[in-house]
Amino acid sequence: MAFPLQGPKLPKLPFSVLIIISILGRSLHASEPPLTLDHYAPTCPGVFEIIKKEMECEVLSDPRNAALIVRLHFHDCFVQGCDGSVLLDDTITLQGEKKASASINSLGGFKIIDRIKNKIESECPGIVSCADILTIAARDAVLLVGEPYWDVPVGRKDSKTASFELAESNIPTADESLLSIITKFLYQGLSVTDLVALSGAHTIGTARCASFRARIYGDFETTSDRSPVSETHLNSLKSMCPATGGGDNNISAMDYVTPNLFDNSFYHLLLKGDGLLNSDQELYSSMLGLETKNLVIKYAHDPVAFFQQFSYSMVKMGNITNPDSFVNGEIRTDCRFINA
Ligand code: HEM
Ligand SMILES: *[C@@H]1O[C@H](CO)[C@@H](O)[C@H](O)[C@H]1NC(C)=O
Ligand SMILES: *[C@@H]1O[C@H](CO)[C@@H](O)[C@H](O)[C@H]1NC(C)=O
Repeated sequence: MAFPLQGPKLPKLPFSVLIIISILGRSLHASEPPLTLDHYAPTCPGVFEIIKKEMECEVLSDPRNAALIVRLHFHDCFVQGCDGSVLLDDTITLQGEKKASASINSLGGFKIIDRIKNKIESECPGIVSCADILTIAARDAVLLVGEPYWDVPVGRKDSKTASFELAESNIPTADESLLSIITKFLYQGLSVTDLVALSGAHTIGTARCASFRARIYGDFETTSDRSPVSETHLNSLKSMCPATGGGDNNISAMDYVTPNLFDNSFYHLLLKGDGLLNSDQELYSSMLGLETKNLVIKYAHDPVAFFQQFSYSMVKMGNITNPDSFVNGEIRTDCRFINA
């Protein structure tokens, strides 16, 4: 496997650290989770249909809902594995993940999961985990705003714990270096290819001014092709997101060309140098990102290759398990609270 670290100027340390983390990551998640496509066939055969129907209503009423659910699934899987830990509310005895810095004022879709869970509980009580609901809903979300489709292995259990600390440390942020983000993916057992493909989820949804301020007043003009369209776009971003602060929660589409369509236009944007997040543009523009740059070019030119890799990588991310939840986990009745 080639790492995107080249050139004689680089110290050798990060390279070996990456390899160690890569090995560690693999050993942490080496055993494949006992997930299957037909886990609910005997106990809740209608589960896929219920989720699909509800997601159809939600995405029809607002396409942004598709983005919220896809991101929620990602934040679930990167903390203790995909175990519904992100869905837990804070209580006196449990500190949840919702107030972690990458999530506060920004994660959403919890009510959508509640509505789906209620429907499923009335049809097959105590059978379907919140973690599975979120995983299936994320697949449906993508399909409802474009392509691709993939089969979702199920059989996850819900955690009885959450980790604010892991939410702080495991979830990458927009102004983090490419090397650091790669390290976080390798730690989860995900590759550089998974990173570039999964970042394609930013072809839908929005980011807040607080997440892109450093980018638009930083090197946006350096990476951008400065076409009239780019200049106009940059100016409108600056007017809703002042350099001096304020407007932190003002939002803008990450893919300003086709904001509500799941396609590969995100990668075209990176080729133009118009990525909204520093972390996204780095995939193409970083001096260290030779491998990531080549993948961005590939997915920009070959949408089918992107769709195939995205499907594969979503299943792989969904496979990140919490070994503890498999033994001690449960099927929550209410996704926000562990069972009494
Ligand atoms: C590679 C590292 C990643 C970084 C640094 C990152 C960072 C971010 C940031 C900063 C936002 C905007 C949040 C806000 O300002 O409210 C965002 C939104 C989003 N992210 Fe990521 N993300 C990453 C990977 C992923 C992955 C793997 C997925 C899913 C497969 C994903 C799905 C989304 C979606 C759909 C949105 C839009 C949510 C909305 O409309 O509210 N991201 N991400
Ligand atoms: C937030 O965006 C709105 C609409 O674009 C704009 O009128 C407002 O001034 C922005 N907030 C700040 C603090 O700039
Ligand atoms: C995900 O897990 C399923 C079930 O354990 C397995 O069949 C599949 O190969 C895994 N896929 C990936 C991409 O890891």
